[in-house]
Amino acid sequence: MGKKKITVVGSGNVGASVAAYASAQELGDIVLLDVIEGMPQGKGLDMWEATPVLGVDTRVLGTNQYEMTEGSDVIIVTAGIARKPGMSRDDLLATNVRIVAEVAEKASKFSPDAIMIIVSNPLDAMVYTAWKKSGYDPARILGMAGVLDTARFRSFLAEEIGVSVEDIHALVLGGHGDTMVPLTRYCFVGGIPITNFISEGRLAEIVQRTRQGGAEIVNLLKTGSAFYAPAASSVEMAKSILRDKKRLLPVAAYLNGEYGEKGIFVGVPAILGTSGVEKVIEIELLPEEQEAFDKSVEAVKGLVKEVDALL
Ligand code: NAI
Ligand code: 2OP
Repeated sequence: MGKKKITVVGSGNVGASVAAYASAQELGDIVLLDVIEGMPQGKGLDMWEATPVLGVDTRVLGTNQYEMTEGSDVIIVTAGIARKPGMSRDDLLATNVRIVAEVAEKASKFSPDAIMIIVSNPLDAMVYTAWKKSGYDPARILGMAGVLDTARFRSFLAEEIGVSVEDIHALVLGGHGDTMVPLTRYCFVGGIPITNFISEGRLAEIVQRTRQGGAEIVNLLKTGSAFYAPAASSVEMAKSILRDKKRLLPVAAYLNGEYGEKGIFVGVPAILGTSGVEKVIEIELLPEEQEAFDKSVEAVKGLVKEVDALL
């Protein structure tokens, strides 16, 4: 089996970090694409020149041409504008719907069999946009949000409890937004329920910090939004697909009756392998969890309606 090919569309903060992490993990050859002339070429060359030091045989190439992306196994879409202080992810919709529609249409033409991971915000609505425009089977299109949201939650909890981040498992459902649903009932530290380690009040505070994790960074950076953790999260998903690892991760996946929903993409646990989203895992929700999930789904549906009006 030859080397895998990964295309990263959008070579800004998230895209360039995705390419750097994917190269460092030797996931395959990487094409970095952007509309800005010279920038992806410069970043790609710089990353390729790092490979002898990293000890990896990955070719990283920057371009403005979709022809170069032909035959990709995985396409990661990070094109679009990012949040500034005072903006919500939803404020990005009108601009990013045009960008993501164009990217999905062009990229899918050159790689009809790829798996497409969307990162651009507002996430769940942009996955829907890319699905509509790519013509891909919905199992081959998914969005990154839950891995990032749980990574934030796990970082905060690990520090609080004084254990390795590796030993914290967490689950977040719903849309990537203020209505995300962190399920503390499914949060474990080395297999032991989280409630063994932390008071309910403190846990609620950490849940709240997780919900606002994106805004916390926007307010510090002032010129844009988070990119290292988002990039690492996207690469973790790509790795499970490229290496057929069958990781069970929270991702924005297409629902076809699961959780009582049809025809939308929203955050749920799913198994990721060579075919993309290979299985959506359903879990029983308590009435208050179901209510929070339904509220989140309603918010996503509202955005999807806006997308439909713009497409
Ligand atoms: P950025 O501004 O640093 O980079 C975006 C890049 O997209 C720019 O280089 C721009 O030239 C490029 N671009 C714009 N239109 C394009 C087009 N038609 N084709 C190709 N490239 C195009 O922004 P950053 O920080 O990298 O964020 C990118 C997106 O990812 C934003 O929408 C942001 O909200 C989202 N995001 C989502 C996260 C998630 O959890 N799902 C986490 C972090 C960011
Ligand atoms: C985040 O959560 C902006 O969605 C991005 O950091």
